[in-house]
Parts: sequence; structure tokens; C-alpha cells
Amino acid sequence: MNRGELTRIARAMVMKNKGILAADESTSTITKRFAGIKLESTEEHRRAYREMLFTAPGAKDFISGVILYDETLHQKTREGVAFPTYLENNGILPGIKVDTGAKPFAQFPGETITEGLDGLRERLIEYRKLGARFAKWRAVIDIGAGIPTSFAIEANAHALARYAALCQEQDIVPIVEPEVLMDGAHSIERCEEVTENVLQTVFRELFAHRIEFEGMVLKPNMVISGKKASNRATPEQVAQASVRCLKRHVPPAVAGIAFLSGGQSPTEATMHLSLMNNLGPLPWPLTFSYGRALQDTALTTWSGQSGNRTAAQKELVRRLKLNGLATTGEYASKMESQAA
Ligand code: 13P
Repeated sequence: MNRGELTRIARAMVMKNKGILAADESTSTITKRFAGIKLESTEEHRRAYREMLFTAPGAKDFISGVILYDETLHQKTREGVAFPTYLENNGILPGIKVDTGAKPFAQFPGETITEGLDGLRERLIEYRKLGARFAKWRAVIDIGAGIPTSFAIEANAHALARYAALCQEQDIVPIVEPEVLMDGAHSIERCEEVTENVLQTVFRELFAHRIEFEGMVLKPNMVISGKKASNRATPEQVAQASVRCLKRHVPPAVAGIAFLSGGQSPTEATMHLSLMNNLGPLPWPLTFSYGRALQDTALTTWSGQSGNRTAAQKELVRRLKLNGLATTGEYASKMESQAA
């Protein structure tokens, strides 16, 4: 393990004014997204879509890294340049999703365990050769009647820590992503309680597995009301609860925190990040690692038509720019109508 290299990469991933583009949807997830624009999910359509995103003029000013899916890591631009090489040449760190998905957790109805540890060392060695500098593993915790159980939280935290240790062994920075879903009708208080438990358990396991906190990035959910809650918390409440929760459970040595968007609208996700950055000084840089909140508008604008490519790229860069401003707390909602 090369501590200096891990720290250097982790810091570059969370530098101010930039964030991480999560474009690591599995084939089944991107197929669902394409269904929304009535586009068949062929390998070429998936390649063309990812190429549209990665080559957007100006995007590199606001992207520190891109999380890729296995298929995309092996694909090329129209000019025949492998995507990881293209990104690296543009000063963007290529990353790779390495878990194989959240599967039903036997004996724990309604809960999942994330799989993918078998053969992971060998896959990481291969991914590093192909250019990956960081990796991602997502654990999923749902809130509902009687769930999450502490055992499911522990099992997922244990797997996250084993993954993180294998990454650091191969000089790959682990993004540690324990996602508490915002799908239910729960209150922000319930989300905070569960997120506190999850983060505390995850950091206990990371410490036990001898993880170098300086060489990792945490990708958490924000502390937020469930999407179906009748009384949704305000953006200020989300920012305050999220920062409070993170300060209580995330060691200052962690290189940085890059949030997932988790089903928030693009504008909500940007506003929350900006408000959190205004609550500083904070022990770590706070940035974005959004999937849907960065891609949604670009995807619908593109709709699989090459004629819409430039317009879609503009939408992506507009969103990136606003999130870049949110990393320093300089975003304001009035910019939504201004930013070109
Ligand atoms: P969302 O921002 O759409 O939640 O995706 C981020 C991600 O990488 C989920 O694993």
C-alpha cells in the first residue's frame, strides 16, 4: 500500500469547485433509465450516452472523477480512445463500481446485503491496469416497519470495510457508500437516527479493518425526510441535520465527503450541498457524487438523438457548474434561470 498515493488521489477527488460524476449504472439500471426516454438499451446506445457525458465541453472544469461500470471501462470514444484514457488525458480520475449489487439478505425480510467480495482482489488488480484510480461499493439500508435491523447494518458495514481494505491494498481509493434510502414516508428525525447508527457502525468496522482514513472518501446520504413523508423538512433543516450527524460520526482524518443524490431533484441536491458548505468551517471538504441529480436533464434532452447531443451536454455542464458553486456555498436558487 502506497499511503502517499492514496492520500493524493483521495484529495484530488474532493477538491473545491469540482465533484464526482456517478455514471456507473449497471446494465439493468441504465436500461430502466433508457426506458424513460423510450430508447432501447443496446451496447452502442450505452456507449454513445456515456461518450456524450464524458466529452461535454467544459465538464472537466467541474469533474474530479467519473465512476464507471465494468462495461464502460472497456468501451471507447468514437475516435477509438478507451474511456479511462480519455478521462485521464482530460485531468479526470477514472473510477469503477466493484460491488455486484444489493441482494435480498437471507433470513432478514425487506433488507439487502451487498455482494461482490469473492475474487475482488483479482478484479481490482485488473481494474487498476485498465486505469481505475478509485472504486465504489454501495450498501443499501432501507427504513420501514422493524427495519433496518442492527444485524443487517453490521453485515453491510463489515462488507464495506473488507472491500475498502482490498482497495487500499491495491492503491485504489475506496469510496465507501452506505446509503440510507429516502424512499419511505419516514421523518427527518428517523433518517438521522438510522444514519447515525449506520455511520457509527461503518467507521467502527473501517477502523477494525485498519483502513487509512486519509486515503478514502465517504459517500453518504443526506439526512432528509422520506419522499412520501407528509411534512418534509426544509433545506436548512436538511443541511443542519446532515452536518450535525456527520460531525458526530466521521473522523476528521477522512479525506472528504461526496454525497449521493438518492432521488432528490437536481435543484434540491445542489441547494442542500451549498447550505451545508455554508455551515463551516467543517473538518472535511463536502462535495457531490451525484448520478441522477447530474444526469436527469441531460438524459431527457439527449433522448438518444445525436442531433440533441450539444444541447444535452450544455445541460450537464450547467448542472455541474451550479454544483461546483455549491462546493463553496456560493450557489443561489436564482442562478437556476441565469446559468447558461
Ligand atoms: P444518485 O446520485 O442517483 O443517488 O446515484 C449516486 C450513486 O452512485 C448511487 O450509488
